[in-house]
Order: sequence, then structure tokens, then C-alpha cells
Amino acid sequence: MRVVWVTDIHLNFLGAEGRDVFFSSIRAQQPDAVFVTGDIAEAPSLTHLLHEMRQAIHVPLYFVLGNHDFYYGSISQVRSSLKHFCQVQPGLTYLATSGLVELTPTTALIGHDGWGDGRYGNYHLSPVRLSDQELIADFQGLDRETILGKLRALGDEAACYLHERLDEALVSYQRVICLTHVPPFKEACWYQRKMGNDDWLPYFACQAVGEVLLNASLERPDCQITVLCGHTHHAGTVYLRPNLRILTGSAEYGAPCIQESFDLEELFPQSMLIEGDEGEGGAIGKT
Ligand SMILES: [Fe+2]
Ligand SMILES: [Fe+2]
Repeated sequence: MRVVWVTDIHLNFLGAEGRDVFFSSIRAQQPDAVFVTGDIAEAPSLTHLLHEMRQAIHVPLYFVLGNHDFYYGSISQVRSSLKHFCQVQPGLTYLATSGLVELTPTTALIGHDGWGDGRYGNYHLSPVRLSDQELIADFQGLDRETILGKLRALGDEAACYLHERLDEALVSYQRVICLTHVPPFKEACWYQRKMGNDDWLPYFACQAVGEVLLNASLERPDCQITVLCGHTHHAGTVYLRPNLRILTGSAEYGAPCIQESFDLEELFPQSMLIEGDEGEGGAIGKT
């Protein structure tokens, strides 16, 4: 099974011609499926652009949403409208509402948007303010403490959903691919070959999801988990455990690209097969 992975494609920054060029570059890879790890567009254009992309690539599209996908909307409204839209659109699957997807008899696909849950780094001392707080209805007009409560709740919601999906997946599958927008570990929060600093980490990593993934990898050393994520727009790969690998994708506004094109087998390299090895995962920067 051949898969193309793209992330942070921000299609709303492109004209029709630019989108056409991007979609044909995906078609040229002749994939059987396409994975998208969020920041696809913004709330008002999201459904239309997802539909256009699905029509153009001719293969099933599995996706999660990123923070930008909720801009000029609210989180619950966008999620709910996408859920209903995908129910009547064959080949378009929103993993945060679809449940687990079987890719092969040994490989399951799960996913959730995730959220920078304010737990890593130093939220209270950080001078960083994301546009999320002005452009997503859920955060507008709230004070910093209330926003932190919302960030944590969003991280917990993603973690709870993925916990259930992982429990399901690890009963029947040896390999799990998890799509999420926000890196689930600070070690996967790449910025120019380094880990994001304490000012950025509260918004760029989701500790709650990380804990769930780490626990699953510890409980089932015989199973392999590969996580694909984005959000930082800087690429890197890290093994948190021999059986838990996180790939973070790079991106540039207005210039979407194919992150990787791979056979499913390539997502689970031999180094992930060291059963029960207690080695400390090493960080390997890619770009
Ligand atoms: Fe992005
Ligand atoms: Fe993002």
C-alpha cells in the first residue's frame, strides 16, 4: 500500500491553479491513500477545499484538523460539521470522529487533532500569543487562566479519544499509525533542528497525548506505533522508545509539498522491532 503524507498545507493561501499543481504532484506519486495531519485551510473554506482535494487525488483521504482549520469558527461546530460531511462523502475520513480504520490485516490507522495543551514549557512566563486566541470563537475574550484551562481540556479530550482507539487497535493489530496535528512530545517539537523552547512549547506540544502513546508503547513492546504530526512547520524524527517513533513534518505557507511518499512497510523500520529494549530514545534531526 503506497501512501502520501502531507501536513500544514494551508490551501486557503493558494489560488485554484496553485492547488491544481499541488494535487497533480500527489497524483503523480500514484498513492493508494493520502494522509493529512492538519492545518488544511480555515473554517469557512475547509469543507469546500477538502472536497476539492478528494476529487482531485482520486484516492481515500484520511485527515485530522489543526488549529488553523478552526479560524473564524468554533471548535465544536467545525468538528461536528466535518463529521456529518464525511458521513456522506465516500473516501473522506476525519479520524477524530470516524474511529479506527483498518489499513491492512496487521496495521490500524487512528488519529485526533490534538492541541498544544499548555503543559510543556512555561505558559505563565511565555510572551507568545497565538492568533488562535483571537480567531477561534472558543478563546475570544477569555483571560489567560481560563485559556489555559481550555488548552488542557482540549489536550485531555484528544488523549482520551486516542487512549480508547489505542486500546482497540492493540488488541487486533501489530502496527498502529497515529495522525495528529500537534507533536505529542517536547522531543518531537522541532524548530530549526532543535526542540522548541519554554516560550513556545506550551502551544506546540500536547503532553496529554504523549502520555497515552508512551504508556501504550510500554505496555505493548511487541507492537509498533508510528506517529505523524506537523504544526511546528519544522521537520524531525525521534524515537521515544524502540517501538514508538514520531515524525514531524515541515511546511511553508503558500508552498505545500509532499512530506513523504512511502510504502506502508517503510513506516515501521527494523529498528522498531527490538522487542522490550529499554534503551533511551535518541533524537535524530532531519532538516
Ligand atoms: Fe500550520
Ligand atoms: Fe498548526
